[in-house]
Amino acid sequence: MNSYVKLKQISKRFPGVLALDNVDFDVLPGEIHALLGENGAGKTVLTNILSGRYQLDEGEIYIKGEKVESDNWSARDALEQGIGMIYQDFMLVEEHTVLENIALADLSIPFFPDYDKIQSTIIELGKKYQLEVDPNAKIWQLSVGEKQRVEIIKALMHGTKVLIMDEPTAVLTPQESDDLFKIVKKLAEEGTSIIFISHKLPEVFAICDRITVLRKGKQIGSVNVSDTNEKELAKMMVGREVFLKTDKAEYKPGNPVIELKEISAISDRQTRALNKLSLTVNKGEIFGLAGVSGNGQKELAEVITGLRPITEGFIYISGKDISENSPRKAIREGIGHIPDDRIGMGVVPDLGMPKSMVLKNYREERFSLKGIFLKKEAIVSYTNKLIEKFNIKTTGIESPVKLLSGGNLQKVILARELSESPPALVAVHPTQGLDIGATEFVRNSLENQRINGAAILLISEDLEELMAVSDRIGVIYDGEIVDVMQTKDTNIEALGLLMTAGKHAAA
Ligand SMILES: Nc1ncnc2c1ncn2[C@@H]1O[C@H](COP(=O)(O)OP(=O)(O)OP(=O)(O)O)[C@@H](O)[C@H]1O
Ligand SMILES: [Mg+2]
Repeated sequence: MNSYVKLKQISKRFPGVLALDNVDFDVLPGEIHALLGENGAGKTVLTNILSGRYQLDEGEIYIKGEKVESDNWSARDALEQGIGMIYQDFMLVEEHTVLENIALADLSIPFFPDYDKIQSTIIELGKKYQLEVDPNAKIWQLSVGEKQRVEIIKALMHGTKVLIMDEPTAVLTPQESDDLFKIVKKLAEEGTSIIFISHKLPEVFAICDRITVLRKGKQIGSVNVSDTNEKELAKMMVGREVFLKTDKAEYKPGNPVIELKEISAISDRQTRALNKLSLTVNKGEIFGLAGVSGNGQKELAEVITGLRPITEGFIYISGKDISENSPRKAIREGIGHIPDDRIGMGVVPDLGMPKSMVLKNYREERFSLKGIFLKKEAIVSYTNKLIEKFNIKTTGIESPVKLLSGGNLQKVILARELSESPPALVAVHPTQGLDIGATEFVRNSLENQRINGAAILLISEDLEELMAVSDRIGVIYDGEIVDVMQTKDTNIEALGLLMTAGKHAAA
């Protein structure tokens, strides 16, 4: 079969880094082709070249066997040739309806769009590909999974032949991911090619036909899914064997460190997010909190770290009452935080690495005089140590952190929060978007902190991860804790049921 798209000997340089080095890549019609590799390997850059967002330095692009003017390949050319991309940061106007967003995005639609016609196309596509979404709903009313469906519909309205999805499941719940896989398979059956970027090998094996692995900008190989296995792929990606099993030390919990007593809180939308929730995390313990996102996890992390007030109840840290919490108070009491929205909350995009690393503790004497005059040398050497320890791939420590690859940006925040050994840590899906080697590293870091006596609240929807690292697991549903179990006494199925059915399943 002839490829729909073929990229030949593509190279791309950025200041200080050869992001792609002679990469060959091709996609067959109707194929689901996974692009795998470590953080910073060049996956996003390669798809950005194909979609015309970046210009290549060297190489050739062929569409249906015909060579195009590769040097001037633009976003418009890509669109015209049916190459569509689903962006991670959805490009939707929150205050507009689904219908308005889709109409506005489509360049082929005249100035006064025929809303009735567009609406019926949305419904038609929805039926055909199980992309159901209410055309008249406002974007802010939609779940993440639904927003993604709107993006897919937008792409299909353009007559997309090749759909690029860059880590589409990173932000989805397990259930939403399953729904997405059905859509992707259906699209492929109908002849659309999918380029699927992911760090999760099980899902790659579940839905993909072929896999191309990149390592440090080089193409390591392309293999059929049926001819390979997870172990071999991990080795192709990382260059060594990877073990995702954390050896856990014996469970000997100490005194309570994080104690929440019947706390309630209100969400940004003024609805009740936490409802008289009580929870205790002890010294030397990893407490895993499972739940479908949107059940209060975000607000829970925020109240503990002082970002959101509680409306009733008490918060104690190591016995001290901090019910009237604030971010500075939380930092002073030694509460570390790996936030959910790492770009929005975790970093300032234009800062370089040294300032990003000491964003929270620059007031300390080792980094500044009275918090005003920064001790540059000390900060730089501290930064270099963390870069090495966390294996962060940078193009120079002073370049703005927004230029890092997705996973390496995560590592900056992880390095900052994990290197200080806080007595209490709130970690919100800390391995999301990380490659397999970095995931191994983060899990081991959490385990080390636990051995050193930290109380860790691990919030995640990744049940396998929760089962692998937690001592106890609680399930949050509608702002309440519905059950708490020792990890050894539960399993993924039972947790899944509690997550979706709440108290009814617990009773
Ligand atoms: N606009 C840019 N300017 C400078 N360097 C960049 C730019 N975009 C990407 N890079 C660099 O190119 C390299 C490849 O980045 P890319 O985003 O493709 O990685 P990735 O494989 O998608 O990783 P991840 O899994 O972390 O998303 C990285 O070293 C990154 O810092
Ligand atoms: Mg990427």
